[in-house]
Amino acid sequence: MQDIDAVDLFCGAGGLTAGLLKTGISVRAGYDIDLNCEYAYKTNNGAEFIAESVALVKADHVAAWYRPNRLKLLAGCAPCQPFSSYNQGRDTTTDVKWPLLYSFEKLIKSIKPELVTMENVPDVTKHQVYNDFVKGLEDEGYYIWAGTIHCIDYGLPQHRRRHVLLASKLGPIAMIPKTHSKPVTVKEAIGKLPKLAAGECDPKDPLHRAASLTPINLQRIMLSEPGGTWNDWPEYLRADCHRKASGKTYPSVYGRMRGDEPGPTMTTLCFGFGNGRFGHYDKSQARAISLREAATLQSFPKNYKFMPPENITFKAVGRMIGNAVPVRLGEIIGMSIQHHIKELAAV
Ligand SMILES: C[S@@+](CC[C@H](N)C(=O)[O-])C[C@H]1O[C@@H](n2cnc3c(N)ncnc32)[C@H](O)[C@@H]1O
Repeated sequence: MQDIDAVDLFCGAGGLTAGLLKTGISVRAGYDIDLNCEYAYKTNNGAEFIAESVALVKADHVAAWYRPNRLKLLAGCAPCQPFSSYNQGRDTTTDVKWPLLYSFEKLIKSIKPELVTMENVPDVTKHQVYNDFVKGLEDEGYYIWAGTIHCIDYGLPQHRRRHVLLASKLGPIAMIPKTHSKPVTVKEAIGKLPKLAAGECDPKDPLHRAASLTPINLQRIMLSEPGGTWNDWPEYLRADCHRKASGKTYPSVYGRMRGDEPGPTMTTLCFGFGNGRFGHYDKSQARAISLREAATLQSFPKNYKFMPPENITFKAVGRMIGNAVPVRLGEIIGMSIQHHIKELAAV
């Protein structure tokens, strides 16, 4: 079977790269403009981090990472913000991040890798830039598989739907079938991590730290039920927006997650109790999930390092975790590609 070299565009902290590496794909380098990601990307994955915009990088620069006699995989998970449903129909085509898929397509057309993958939010398919991207690949002669998958079907302990595209010049390619018939729960994923109070940090793991809570939020979380809402609180603890009818459209802000189900989608602000259902499921712990717990729900290995301990901030690490492709999804993408190559070798 032929070996595969990969380059990861928009590599972030390396979720996709870490998953691909697990399947034997050699990821040589990642490109991203966020310098905060360099430490995590390089320290955990041993690949080079290039701080350059995908919109500006020259195709020769990217192509130089590939070694002779190996298959080339170009992977890219462009920023999802312009395609996210949070925009609620707002025109996002003027966002500088919106056309980045055109830059990705341009690189594909110059480098001509045998294999391509991209991942994004499901709503990416509603955008012209995505349709043009797919058409561009078809014109180049790629076989394409594209679909929206629910990550719990592949063992991620988190509700996360993602659109994945796999493309190959070598023959028909597809995502492997579901690997899990029973979802992995939050408790199974994070239940063994040391207990913490709000504002505390585990002395043995600088990432296992929980944000502090104001006195009123401490009272609120103490009265929150796993899977419940702020409706469980007495009237005096409700925020103004909760008292108004309009607030009722956000029932899961200030929520505790359930231990016996997969968690909610991890966002860049998932360390904050007020930002979603990010309260710890265990009622003996009155706090939001720690950064380590968020990373674990995103299937990062327990020892993944995001920043030097002295530089860790909730904001910077939360962004890397929330933006990441779950490592498990990267692994499933890698397994699908390896399965495709194996099938071709068997013919
Ligand atoms: C969805 S995240 C990628 C997550 C990453 N693949 C992972 O698995 O951890 C998108 C990334 O694109 C980066 N980005 C935004 N604009 C960029 C540009 N013009 N060139 C390169 N990277 C860019 C952001 O800094 C962010 O890290």
